[in-house]
Amino acid sequence: MNENAIVFEKVSKSYPLYHHIIGGIKRFIFNIPGALKAIKSSRYDALRDISFEIKKGETVGVIGRNGAGKSTTLGLIAGVMKCTSGSITVNGRVAPLLELGAGFNHELTGRENIILNAVLLGLNISEVKERMTSIIAFSELGDFIDQPIRVYSSGMLARLGFSVAAHLNYEILLVDEVLGVGDQQFQKKCYDKILESKQAGMTIVFVSHSMPEIEKVCGRVIWIENHTVKQIGETKQVIDAYIKAQENHG
Ligand SMILES: Nc1ncnc2c1ncn2[C@@H]1O[C@H](COP(=O)(O)OP(=O)(O)O)[C@@H](O)[C@H]1O
Ligand SMILES: [Mg+2]
Repeated sequence: MNENAIVFEKVSKSYPLYHHIIGGIKRFIFNIPGALKAIKSSRYDALRDISFEIKKGETVGVIGRNGAGKSTTLGLIAGVMKCTSGSITVNGRVAPLLELGAGFNHELTGRENIILNAVLLGLNISEVKERMTSIIAFSELGDFIDQPIRVYSSGMLARLGFSVAAHLNYEILLVDEVLGVGDQQFQKKCYDKILESKQAGMTIVFVSHSMPEIEKVCGRVIWIENHTVKQIGETKQVIDAYIKAQENHG
């Protein structure tokens, strides 16, 4: 049980700066040639020099303010995006991450998307049929299951995504604030499913703003601040430091 599931070594991810010029648009208009030159050579760092290891079967929380780089970290693990520098190793099948548009086709119905993902995982028809019932029941999507998912609300997409991720045989589950979507009762169900997956030995990376949830689910926590790792360690310790820092910022 000491094998690594996920290893990040000095990982950085940057975007061209033009995604971020809106704030400086006035300056931009008054000096277009200069601004264009600056933009072409500048990059915006979404993540800087991140290193960590996650063992197989570990449940690790990722916390930090909005825009810190949590979703980018999950996207890199899922392989939806590539890092700009450093190296990423992932051992195990990663559940599709619907929030980032991976693993689902928007023209297909909910049901067809379930089949697509199950078949890609190597399940045979009878296994697909068997899982289908529990996935659809868990999602509570009703008749919408036979509608193309482009008509789904973000809450419905999250339901489908989580249901697929939790019911098929993946080895790594990435949860990006999924518990923030949907009603209380559905959140509770997701949360129970995460604990069940944890018991079953799945590796879980869990992004949440709810410290009580992080505390209940995670053995260790990675705190990301200003696009880099601020602290990694035992859950209680990192959460306490994080809460303290929030209080000091007001
Ligand atoms: N596709 C993109 N293009 C440009 N910048 C991006 C893109 N995606 C995210 N960012 C930027 O990267 C930073 C980290 O984003 P994100 O990982 O979504 O943060 P978090 O999930 O912690 O709120 C943010 O400042 C965000 O604006
Ligand atoms: Mg995010």
